[in-house]
Amino acid sequence: MSIRFDLSYANINPSEFENRFEQLALANEELMAKTGIGNDFLGWVDYPINYDKAEYARIKKAAIKIQDTCDALVIIGIGGSYLGSKAVISALTSPFFNEEPRSKRKAPKIYFAGQNLSGKYLEKLLELLKDQDICVNVISKSGTTTEPAIAFRFFKKFMEEKYGKDGARDRIFVTTDKSAGALKFMADEEGYENFVIPDDIGGRYSVYTAVGLLPIAAAGIDIDALMAGGKAGYEEYKNPKVDKNPCYQYALYRNVLYNRGKSIEILVDYDPSLEYIGEWWKQLFGESDGKDGKGLFPSAVHFSTDLHSMGQMIQDGPKNHFETVLVIDEDQSSIKVFHDDANLEGLNYLNAWEIDAINEKAFMGTLLAHVDGGVPNGIIHLKKLDAFNIGKLIYFFEKACGLNGYLMGVNPFDQPGVEAYKKNMFALLHKPGYEALTTELEERL
Ligand code: PA5
Repeated sequence: MSIRFDLSYANINPSEFENRFEQLALANEELMAKTGIGNDFLGWVDYPINYDKAEYARIKKAAIKIQDTCDALVIIGIGGSYLGSKAVISALTSPFFNEEPRSKRKAPKIYFAGQNLSGKYLEKLLELLKDQDICVNVISKSGTTTEPAIAFRFFKKFMEEKYGKDGARDRIFVTTDKSAGALKFMADEEGYENFVIPDDIGGRYSVYTAVGLLPIAAAGIDIDALMAGGKAGYEEYKNPKVDKNPCYQYALYRNVLYNRGKSIEILVDYDPSLEYIGEWWKQLFGESDGKDGKGLFPSAVHFSTDLHSMGQMIQDGPKNHFETVLVIDEDQSSIKVFHDDANLEGLNYLNAWEIDAINEKAFMGTLLAHVDGGVPNGIIHLKKLDAFNIGKLIYFFEKACGLNGYLMGVNPFDQPGVEAYKKNMFALLHKPGYEALTTELEERL
């Protein structure tokens, strides 16, 4: 089993699982048969098997073209339109990917834009890329999201000035809805190559579509292996035997702890490569669970870095949280501490210890300390950090998230709460059509 869930430190009595089996089986049935709540967004469930093969071949071709023509690829998108690719690319490339020589990287540098509204970020990025050959992949399912639309306006102009309209057309790739939205309209008007986000797959569940796959493939990652991992997840996590199904175990564990009054789940990692897996996971569970006053607040920490900040709160603060630790079983490196004759910092007792082994002891020491402090811990063991296992981990979390929503009685596939800020922002920016709200909000400010 390449993903294992260890409940030994979660302080859960097996009977708490057993009395939820029936509900879980029903949730699984509704999810797999696509008959449950939000079923118009269940395309992701079997997508690693039933993906569009022609589109997939085009993605691979476009990725090679990007690698052959660009020093840098700019991925423009926000939320589910960038977090999945950023998570996979960060997990599977060097932490210094962009700084490595091109001969070592075999792929363009990767930058993200349109995921914030910082003028400074955009200005500095445009300045940085001024003398580099770039390609752009702009991604938006709705095709109308403000943040990426603004960034793309700048990059479109930047590229047309640099390469002319025809040259820019050759370097701009659009991923959006098959027929609706301003981005689709623009892609058709300008003749950009475009990739389709299926109607029945929402942003945060879209890693196996062109949304995730084009940037991931362009970064030189084996997308066949990633999809094979997704397919393995689809097959394995159908197993009705809870003791053989780590995805079921994780969904049940969250549900038990939530019903016990825990309100925060903290995803813990011990390797900076997993930092963006944590960001993607936060979005997946945050947008899926948080409805009707329900849901676990998803938070992520990166140890041992955050042991020197958040560790105190987790250990001694209010006991409203539990930790889910994501560990990679296989070592990432064999670098070792060495003997130093002077031994001024007294570290010779660690002579010949691998840094990864020291990190493992930090994990074990923290686990016991936090459990002693009254914090339940569940551990997700990922055998190896590679495309197959990350592909499977994505499916593991997506399926657990869907099941969890059904167990809680919410629709895990919509995000109505995200609209509230958008409406206010449009009104405050005086977008035509929002006049009444503009007056109302401005009076309040
Ligand atoms: O998961 C989701 O659906 C959202 O987070 C969206 O991905 C995000 O709001 C961006 O939307 P769009 O792709 O339409 O620009």
